[in-house]
Amino acid sequence: MKIAFLGYGQVGAPLADHLQRLGHQVSLAAKDAESASVLKALERNPHLRVAEPNSAVGQAEIIFLATPYAANETVLASVSTELAGKVLIDCTNPVGAQLSHGLNNQQSGTQVIQNQLPTTAVVKAFSIYGFENFEDNQFPNASLKPAMLFCGNSQSAKQQVAHLIAELGWDPVDVGGLEQALHLEHMTLLWIRLVRLQERSAHLTWARLER
Ligand SMILES: NC(=O)c1ccc[n+]([C@@H]2O[C@H](COP(=O)([O-])OP(=O)(O)OC[C@H]3O[C@@H](n4cnc5c(N)ncnc54)[C@H](OP(=O)(O)O)[C@@H]3O)[C@@H](O)[C@H]2O)c1
Repeated sequence: MKIAFLGYGQVGAPLADHLQRLGHQVSLAAKDAESASVLKALERNPHLRVAEPNSAVGQAEIIFLATPYAANETVLASVSTELAGKVLIDCTNPVGAQLSHGLNNQQSGTQVIQNQLPTTAVVKAFSIYGFENFEDNQFPNASLKPAMLFCGNSQSAKQQVAHLIAELGWDPVDVGGLEQALHLEHMTLLWIRLVRLQERSAHLTWARLER
């Protein structure tokens, strides 16, 4: 599959790396091909392609958004034509002061993106854990896989995203439509508080038991 990354820092770079190693054609959408984050991502995996954003997004079937939340609107506006009709995976989180919800719990950051891009199928995924788990999600002695909760309004987009999630070693858990994104963003805040404030393991993940 052809995949492009808008943002390839702590979250984007390990995901891009693993997806390329799985055989996907992965491009970094780069305004500056020599930026520190491009060079660092290439150091991790020299087989990643680097292309100007319109070209990278235009050629991709699925696009990951892994930029700081505050940059989303501008970054997406610059490639909105190329995003029409495509699948966008939103990994971003609006985090406010004192680890509160950055949009005052009224609307999710993902719904803001969907409103900005009405013809793009936006799926929220790869958002509820810290980046350490995108680098390494292996639990060799566990009988369950770590769960990756995701949501979106397009069933076909979610099927494609679920496939990538499973390929990357997670148990894909479809939690419903985009109205669930707000609750995933609160799960993220819970995770951040448990790990960054209470100093639990950064490899704390959830798993599914269902009957
Ligand atoms: N860190 C985590 O553990 C974690 C976990 C889950 C989700 N998230 C969410 O994922 C997103 C990315 O987090 P991160 O930790 O990966 O951030 P990061 O390490 O700072 O990386 C951000 C990436 O976005 C790019 N970027 C920044 N401003 C940009 C702009 N105006 N236009 C285009 N690209 C821009 C950066 O490129 P340059 O360096 O070249 O500017 C870099 O590649 C955030 O929304 C965060 O809430 C983070």
